[in-house]
Amino acid sequence: MEKFELLYDISRRLSSSLDLDRVLKDILALTIPSVGATSGSMIVLDESGQARRHTLIKKELGTPVTEQAVGQILEKGLAGWVVQRKKGAIVSDTRDDERWLALTDEHRATRSAVAVPLLRQERVVGVLTLVHPEPNRFDEEHLDLLLSIANQSAIAVENARLYENVTERMREATALHKVSNLLMRTLNLDQVLERVLDILQRTFGYLDCAILLVEEETGELEVKAVRGDLQEAVGRMRFKIGEGIAGWVAARRTALNVPDVSQDPRCVEGVEQTGSEMAVPMIAGDSVIGVLDVQRAEANAFSDDDLRVLSSVAAQAAIAIERARLYAAERRLRIAIAEERAKLEAVIKGASDAIIVTNEGGRVVLMNPAAEQVFDAEPGTWVDRPLETVVENADFLVLWRSCSMADDGFCSDEIPLADGRTLYAQTTPIAGVGQMAIMRDITHLKELDRMKSEFVSTVSHDLGSPLQVIQTGAELIPKLGPVNQAQRDAINDIVRMVTKTATLVRSLLDLGRVEAGVGMEMQPCQLVTVVNEALVGLEERAKAKEIALQITLPQALPLVMGNPIRLGQVVTNFVTNAIKFTPGGGTVTISARETEGEVAIEVKDTGIGIALEDQAQIFDKFYRVKSAQVSRIEGTGLGLAIVKSIVDGHGGRVWVESELGQGSTFGFALPIAPSR
Ligand SMILES: Nc1ncnc2c1ncn2[C@@H]1O[C@H](COP(=O)(O)OP(=O)(O)O)[C@@H](O)[C@H]1O
Ligand SMILES: [Mg+2]
Repeated sequence: MEKFELLYDISRRLSSSLDLDRVLKDILALTIPSVGATSGSMIVLDESGQARRHTLIKKELGTPVTEQAVGQILEKGLAGWVVQRKKGAIVSDTRDDERWLALTDEHRATRSAVAVPLLRQERVVGVLTLVHPEPNRFDEEHLDLLLSIANQSAIAVENARLYENVTERMREATALHKVSNLLMRTLNLDQVLERVLDILQRTFGYLDCAILLVEEETGELEVKAVRGDLQEAVGRMRFKIGEGIAGWVAARRTALNVPDVSQDPRCVEGVEQTGSEMAVPMIAGDSVIGVLDVQRAEANAFSDDDLRVLSSVAAQAAIAIERARLYAAERRLRIAIAEERAKLEAVIKGASDAIIVTNEGGRVVLMNPAAEQVFDAEPGTWVDRPLETVVENADFLVLWRSCSMADDGFCSDEIPLADGRTLYAQTTPIAGVGQMAIMRDITHLKELDRMKSEFVSTVSHDLGSPLQVIQTGAELIPKLGPVNQAQRDAINDIVRMVTKTATLVRSLLDLGRVEAGVGMEMQPCQLVTVVNEALVGLEERAKAKEIALQITLPQALPLVMGNPIRLGQVVTNFVTNAIKFTPGGGTVTISARETEGEVAIEVKDTGIGIALEDQAQIFDKFYRVKSAQVSRIEGTGLGLAIVKSIVDGHGGRVWVESELGQGSTFGFALPIAPSR
């Protein structure tokens, strides 16, 4: 029978092909003549019921059926009727049947039609429609035959469609893999952007596309790279987050497929209206860094698949862009650090002060040329060597070590060099690095100081004898004959002033001698004896001012190496000051103590005290506190300078602790003499 032959023929042909277009054309080519139709069409549906393919075979070429028309037919036309009811339909005369939509010339020329569903497990996978320009051309028999053919075709159509799906996905996967490969091979941001657009154009066929990035400063989206019709928009187009389609996408972090931009309320006014637009956010970490945007002049141009592909590209683009940006930022940082380093190095190198830095392990990390010169180190040979092997100067090493042990790490001292020069060295701890010393050559200052002392002592020496003559002369006048009261007063003034001046000169001479080391012959001394002898003449003075002298001394102290006369001077100076600067009724306490390797003597009073800002200077020559209280009391300002000089000459230290109005404590300490 003809029917079976036909079915057999169809099944044979269909099973040999997986090409959907081929399959559809074959079905139409075989069925059109079998029912005497003039032309026919096939609509293939995907899972969501949307038209996936529309194939038309007809005798004369007419206008192609648009996607939109197919959509309408599926919605309310004959094919739609068939899909909804899952059964075939015959239209005897299209003019009397409202299921027939005359959308094209071809449709308008049609009078009869027959349509059947292609069913696969109760699901309509397609609709086959055959037509004829004359009415009443199809009957139930035709319908039966077509239903049989449709049943047989459904499997082939479904298989071909699934195969096409799979191959499409695979093509997509390969393309995306290529995308990531291509993007990961550059760290240059501009190149990344260009490549993303290349991919969108060449691999996926999106001709009009743009990349918008969120500007750090403004927080706005700015078009950074563009292809196709959007070309002119570069740098001109800006969107606030939330504004326009791209802004909406960035704000919501959602991909968007707008089938008809002119109908979309999100579209920014004034921007040229395109047909369709897809926009996908690019997200890195947890922030939106930009938007990929693709447009097309026609409406409904993009499918869900398109949006998926664009999203995948966007995800990879986001990674590549972020990577390029981080790389650029890191490069900038590295350059900035190198520049800062170079600047700092230049400063340190050029400094006239000698600078040495060691790490926490005591190894040299830096020594500038001035330091190399001072310590006779070959340039650069010091790197990472222990300090002691680089610097030989014992005084410097002592300072360095005592500073590493000091609580705050700040220390300073004068360092004599072998060549006769003197450095003033200050050490500072550097957090996270180690310790630093800065040394300044103070040789010329020392020399000036020496010259000044020499000058002063020469002058005072020369003043000594004339003063003596004046004093003796003045005292002699009254003895030579009677003088009246006015003359006596004048003579007394002269004697008083001369005595004062003589004291000053004596002190100056004394200071000069101490500084020159004259009269500093050392011997083992018992400080208890020294103190007691010094106090002999002072008890009278304290009593006269009604000041209690409290002396709390041990029987004996460890011996120190020193000059007993000079050390007695120190005690005398401290106690004299204490009595001078303490109002009557107060107390002066003298005590002694032994500490680690040292013997210390302290003189404490309940007097006027010294403000902190004055304390640092009272050991300087001629320094006297500028206050009404002090200026009423006679003095030269040399006493403590002599004290400091003497104690320094003994390798000891002096100090003061005081608070204005609360009394003062002066002290000195000397190293205990090594026992034999
Ligand atoms: N025990 C003290 N109490 C208060 N101020 C003192 C004391 N000892 C010293 N000073 C202050 O230090 C200054 C310097 O002391 P010094 O060198 O002995 O000079 P002079 O005793 O000649 O004033 C004094 O002028 C005074 O301002
Ligand atoms: Mg004094």
